[in-house]
Amino acid sequence: MAVLGVLASGNGSNFEAIARAVEPTRHRVAVLIHDRRDAFAAERAARLGIPAVHLSYAGRTRDEAESAIATTLEAHGVDLVALAGFMRLLSPRLIDRYPGRILNIHPSLLPDYPGVSAITDAHGAGETETGVTVHRVDYGMDTGPIIAQERVSMDPEESPDDLETRIHAVEHRLYPSVVLAELNALEET
Ligand code: GRF
Repeated sequence: MAVLGVLASGNGSNFEAIARAVEPTRHRVAVLIHDRRDAFAAERAARLGIPAVHLSYAGRTRDEAESAIATTLEAHGVDLVALAGFMRLLSPRLIDRYPGRILNIHPSLLPDYPGVSAITDAHGAGETETGVTVHRVDYGMDTGPIIAQERVSMDPEESPDDLETRIHAVEHRLYPSVVLAELNALEET
């Protein structure tokens, strides 16, 4: 058995997809940490019976907030961390506590279109394809070794919203499969 912790800031659809995929396995999602109090991810956690911990960055330095995150992850025995729409860059200090064991998902074919508006950026640039990337987190923004990528074709007539819906559908399949493979691999080490 290996233990996953998830960090999310918002809607949490990837968190839920991961939690549902992990549920029937011997692995466990031990905790959801959210930095925004009203993150819908917290409601999903309640429905899924997964503890949710709100750790605000407000009124704290990044070091203080991250040390609370690290304490929470450790208290829940977390082996692997998945960022799922967590809208903050982690410092080297936190990343180094989980070397190679923090994953992120990004809605583009990295290294193309890093950053918060990847879908509209690719759409606006008139690309004919974009995609989804799952990678290990390093010190950069949306950098780090790529574990899996899936291409998504683009139609210039399609709205960014419809494209986003199709990208999310790919994310909800790709991210859980990578997370499960990582949990299996960790269990063997
Ligand atoms: C996803 O598109 C993910 O690729 C990006 O943030 C979004 C999170 O969506 N990192 P959700 O909160 O999981 O619904």
